[in-house]
Amino acid sequence: MKHIFKQGSDASAPTLVLFHGTGGTEEDLLPIGEMISPTSSVLSVRGNVLENGMPRFFRRLAEGVFDLEDLILRTHEVYDFLDEAAEKYGVDRHNMVAVGYSNGANIAASLLFHYEDAFKGAILHHPMVPLRDKELPNLSGIPIFIGAGRNDQMCSAQESEDLHALLTEAGTVTELHWENNGHQLTRTEILAAAAWYGEHF
Ligand code: MLT
Repeated sequence: MKHIFKQGSDASAPTLVLFHGTGGTEEDLLPIGEMISPTSSVLSVRGNVLENGMPRFFRRLAEGVFDLEDLILRTHEVYDFLDEAAEKYGVDRHNMVAVGYSNGANIAASLLFHYEDAFKGAILHHPMVPLRDKELPNLSGIPIFIGAGRNDQMCSAQESEDLHALLTEAGTVTELHWENNGHQLTRTEILAAAAWYGEHF
């Protein structure tokens, strides 16, 4: 997968794995990674799917309606890529924290729904429930931050509450952080995520 890897100054800090939103690239979240953990190595990935020229991590049938077959296939593809990248760049595969926004948060959530060892933790900005009626793996003790907007037209408050409940049932320690905003990623939400990260890693 197309990506950027940047070696951090602290080899023991988690590697941040960045997943952009629809129409973004692997450049987008680099400043956010810097705000969250400036000493971490960063692996920023570009989604392999194109929707009218806009990169995404999996196909959708309509806004908010996911192509589940493709979502599952792409989830495994990203997981394999993370294994390969960890080996290539000499970072600890078990010391990765995901940071995703929108479509990128959805693929990160799907990785958590499919694998117990995908990530050591995750920051999900405006995620949805990636797929329903799936038994989740044992995600015991994994810290997760969900950033949600009370006026998010793309992702209802119920959707955020449902994801919070499902991840909590699977054993994670998930914090649901609300902003009085829409789907956009605001500075206050990033600062809240950075403060949360500082408490957990
Ligand atoms: C998705 O398709 O993953 C969500 O609708 C959010 C987005 O548009 O990226």
